[in-house]
Parts: sequence; structure tokens; C-alpha cells
Amino acid sequence: MPARKKIAIIGGDGIGPSVTEEAKKLLEIYRDKAGLPLDLWELDLGADRYLRDGTTFPKEIQIAIQRECSAVLLGALGDPRVPNLEHARDILFGMRFGYDLYANVRPVRALADRLVPLKGRTAKDVDFVVFRENTEGIYVGMGGQFKRGTPDEVAINEDLNTRKGVERIIRAAFEYARSHGKTKVTMADKSNAMRHAHELWLRVFHEVGAQYQGIEARHLYVDALCLLLVQDPSQFEVIVTNNLFGDIVTDLGAAFQGGLGMAASANVHASSPEKVTLFEPVHGSAPPLAGKDIANPFAALLTAGMLLAHLGWPEEERRIERRVTEAIEEMACTVDVGGKLGTRAAAAWVRERVASEL
Ligand code: NAD
Ligand code: IPM
Ligand code: MN
Repeated sequence: MPARKKIAIIGGDGIGPSVTEEAKKLLEIYRDKAGLPLDLWELDLGADRYLRDGTTFPKEIQIAIQRECSAVLLGALGDPRVPNLEHARDILFGMRFGYDLYANVRPVRALADRLVPLKGRTAKDVDFVVFRENTEGIYVGMGGQFKRGTPDEVAINEDLNTRKGVERIIRAAFEYARSHGKTKVTMADKSNAMRHAHELWLRVFHEVGAQYQGIEARHLYVDALCLLLVQDPSQFEVIVTNNLFGDIVTDLGAAFQGGLGMAASANVHASSPEKVTLFEPVHGSAPPLAGKDIANPFAALLTAGMLLAHLGWPEEERRIERRVTEAIEEMACTVDVGGKLGTRAAAAWVRERVASEL
């Protein structure tokens, strides 16, 4: 009997709970029909809970997940009723930083030609992976405000970059390239303007890159990267960059995939993948779409596919991706990707196709 894998499920806010519910049902099919040894553990965390009793991300939950779970499946966090997003940061960064999940791995693949909005480009031109640094940079919350609300006020957010942090994400990108038969790694920074922090990135990139024979190590400033991505995304295979730039570049990448409703991601401790890993769609809580059964559930389903691959069933990720691709081709999808179905019906269409093969 294979060891059971416990998966914590946090729907979160806005459209998060509804798309995560669809992904959970897909995992239930794998558990009940295919016999995968999955234990699903739903957690009531997010804005509703915070507004009810002030709970954000209790220490005992953080520890229990770390001790007991192989993975976390998260929907999205962010709710207009919590303007300072305190709960969202506690939960999301509580996992990304708390579990030291330093690689935010965001594949940018278009599943059908009609989803690609770039003139003259087709799905085959959109196939790269972004390795976003996930534990440092401007996200660490170091800084402060001084003389707030006065004409002299000052606001500072520090951009933290450590040798260890920069080296390990760059190495993760090269290791991924090597193990996936890729020959091009591009690092994007702003070392022309940020001459302290990003000189470190540039130097480490050249040092680490020199250790990977046969892999081209290309450096671009991030502004130029954005230009070239739009002009010809097919020239990129693996992109590595810092936390903030990675956030921005992957929303741009999501546009090439047909929108945020199609973009999946994993947050991994790349050198110890047996540690708990966090899976989430790239999109946020999209408050205007919440509760209307119109959000695209495919990013969440593809994210569940990444989760299954990580736990040792890579063929199931491919199966889910094939079935989502068919749904797109047959217009069995939500309005954002040209279909007429609601969230639940689009997800059910994919699940039925998957289930029929198990
Ligand atoms: P968003 O990703 O929620 O929405 C951006 C755009 O994409 C909107 O037009 C939205 O309608 C569309 N969109 C997103 N997901 C979609 C889906 N599944 N189907 C169809 N359309 C979809 O980003 P935002 O509006 O900038 O942020 C809303 C809230 O979400 C904020 O509180 C933000 O901080 C939070 N957020 C959370 C995460 C996360 O939890 N990982 C990620 C991004 C944003
Ligand atoms: C993402 C989101 C988060 C980020 C927000 C909600 C803090 O945009 O996961 O892409 O910037 O990392
Ligand atoms: Mn983002």
C-alpha cells in the first residue's frame, strides 16, 4: 500500500472557493475512482474567517501542514472588505516564506492557437517556464513609514537580495532546464539601474551559468524582456527573475495563454521537493466575478494537475492538460476563453472526460 498523501485545501476569497471546489472534485475522482492514496483536508481560512473571528494563519495550522501534508491547494486571497489584505499576506506569505518555498514555478503554455492574442503567433510559440524568486526581494515587508499623513511623509520598502537566495533560484532554473532538455535560460533584472542588488544577480547568473555546459545563459534587462516577450515569445524556454518582476512577467505570460483563468503555478523548495509544496492558480480572487459561476476553473484544474505530477503521477498532469485542451477546442469553456459554460459546467466537462479513462 503506497503511503497516503495529505493535501490541505484552502479556497480563500472571491472566486477562490468556487474554482478550488472544482479542483477538489477532480482530486476526489482520482482518490475514489483511480484509488490514488489522497487525503483531502479542507481548511476554513480567508477573509470570511478573518472577519468572523480575527483568524489569519494560526501557528498550529502552519505547523500541522508542514508536518502532515505533502501539498497545499490554494484558490486565491484578497477581499475588498479587508483593505489592508492582512489575512492574505499572513496566509500566502506564511506558506511561501514560512515553508521557504523559494521557487515560484509558473509555466506559460498556450493550449490552443485561438487563445494566443499575439499577431501571427500560435500556441507552439508560447511554451516557457518562469522561475520567480519567492522568498526575498521587495516582498519581505522590510521598511516603514515616517511622518505618515503629513506633507513630509516618507515610505520605504527595502529590496532584500541574499547571495544564498539569488543563487538557489538561478540554480533551480538551470537544473530544471537540464532535466527537461531545455537549452536556454534567460535571467531578467534591472542591473543598469539597481546597481547593488542586481549586480549580485548578474554576477551569480554568470557564475552559475558557466557550470551548465550546453545551456545558453542570456541576460536581459526586464524592460527589454517584456518587449521581446510580446514580439516573439518562442525565443524563451526558461526565465529566471526576482519576486516582483516574476509577478509582473507571469501576468503578461498569462495573457499569452488566454488570460489568468488558464495559468497554473507551484511554490516549491526546489532542492528538497519532498517538503510541503503550495499549488495555486496565478490569478487572484477576482472580486467582480465572485459568486456568479463565471470564473474560469481551468487554471485551478491545471494546478491540480501540477500537484499530481509533483506527488508522483506526471501522466495525470498530462491527461488533465489534454482534457482541458479538448474543452478549449470544443468550446466547452467559460466566457473569458470564448465559451458559454459556467464555472461548474466547464469543470464538470473536463472531469467527466478524465473520469471516463480511469
Ligand atoms: P485578479 O487575478 O483577481 O484579476 C485580474 C483580471 O483577471 C480581472 O479582470 C479578472 O476578472 C480576471 N480573472 C482572474 N481570474 C480569472 C478567472 N479564473 N476566470 C476569468 N477571469 C479571471 O487580480 P486583481 O483584480 O488585481 O486582484 C484581486 C484580488 O486578488 C486582490 O486582492 C489581489 O491582491 C488578490 N490576488 C491574489 C492572488 C493570490 O491569492 N495568489 C493573486 C493575484 C491577486
Ligand atoms: C500572485 C499575487 C501575489 C503576489 C499577491 C496577492 C501578493 O499577485 O501570486 O501572483 O504578488 O505574489
Ligand atoms: Mn500576481
